[in-house]
Amino acid sequence: MKKRVLSGMQPSGLLHLGNLFGALDNFKRLQAEHECFYFVADWHALSTNYEDTSRIREYTREVLIDWLAAGLDPERSTLFIQSRVPEHAVLHLLLSMITPVPWLERNPTYKEKQENLEGRDLSTYGFLGYPVLQTADILLYKGNFVPVGVDQLPHLELSREIARRFNQLYKPVFPEPQALLTEIPKVPGTDGRKMSKSYNNTIDLSDPEATLRSKLKTMVTDPARIRRTDKGNPDICPVFTLHKSISARPVIDQVNKECRTAAIGCIDCKKLLADGLVTLLTPTWEKRREFVQKPKLVDEVIDAGTKKAGAVAAKTISEVSEAMRIG
Ligand code: TRP
Ligand code: SF4
Repeated sequence: MKKRVLSGMQPSGLLHLGNLFGALDNFKRLQAEHECFYFVADWHALSTNYEDTSRIREYTREVLIDWLAAGLDPERSTLFIQSRVPEHAVLHLLLSMITPVPWLERNPTYKEKQENLEGRDLSTYGFLGYPVLQTADILLYKGNFVPVGVDQLPHLELSREIARRFNQLYKPVFPEPQALLTEIPKVPGTDGRKMSKSYNNTIDLSDPEATLRSKLKTMVTDPARIRRTDKGNPDICPVFTLHKSISARPVIDQVNKECRTAAIGCIDCKKLLADGLVTLLTPTWEKRREFVQKPKLVDEVIDAGTKKAGAVAAKTISEVSEAMRIG
């Protein structure tokens, strides 16, 4: 029996290189060995954005298009949208009945986000229950493996605790999901900080070539290299970090050597990086163009994914109802 992989992504906008090297490459790799379910968590987006829902629908579609463009294969993976499979809400409700509130209150991301997302009232029931919804997402498909970043580990631990509690109270319906830690290479943004939408420093998968090249031109480098003749240290340069993620070995070696002696200048070094990124992203751009031109194709993928996910979800809900003797 193939193991099940399940993961979700919130629709927070266009995907960028950080998402590609972090989550997406991993999602793609897992398609080869496992039965994969990947969904856009649009209900989760409500937990922090309920006051302004104006972009959630648009972003949900963009994420799906980015996934398809980047090479998630709807023939091999089930790609869908959380809100299109209402069983997520059903299981969320049932699990909420058995989840002690203190488990949720001690979740570190709960407090952290409440404090850090200023200007938003996150004292809602839904925000507290975020990890219960996430647990429902996973258990609905009896996910064995959940590829996530390290920030999600407390949520996964909670999912296991809730699964265990359900299995003990009623019947052993759910496997305990394991996190598959995505080794997130630190992908720097154009300002040298971690690439992140909230820093406005991203290189998006959907950026046209000209945008990509101009973003790289203004990317920060080793600040010691003011003049062309100043020697640099690639180890502290975010441009070199990107080289190490995407460039061919000879290019990496060349930059590593020639930066230190000022044999190469930053302009040429960045051009090598831009060329490498263009080569890497050209297939993604071509696929994206196709999906943007043929929106029906995207609709078909979503409809087919919803149907497949819905069938699995309905089966789980009937097992759960049986185990709980409800309905
Ligand atoms: N909480 C995850 C995040 O913010 C998104 C998510 C929602 C998820 N449901 C999930 C991830 C289920 C894995 C499994 O990144
Ligand atoms: Fe960075 Fe390249 Fe300039 Fe060296 S040559 S400082 S690695 S951009």
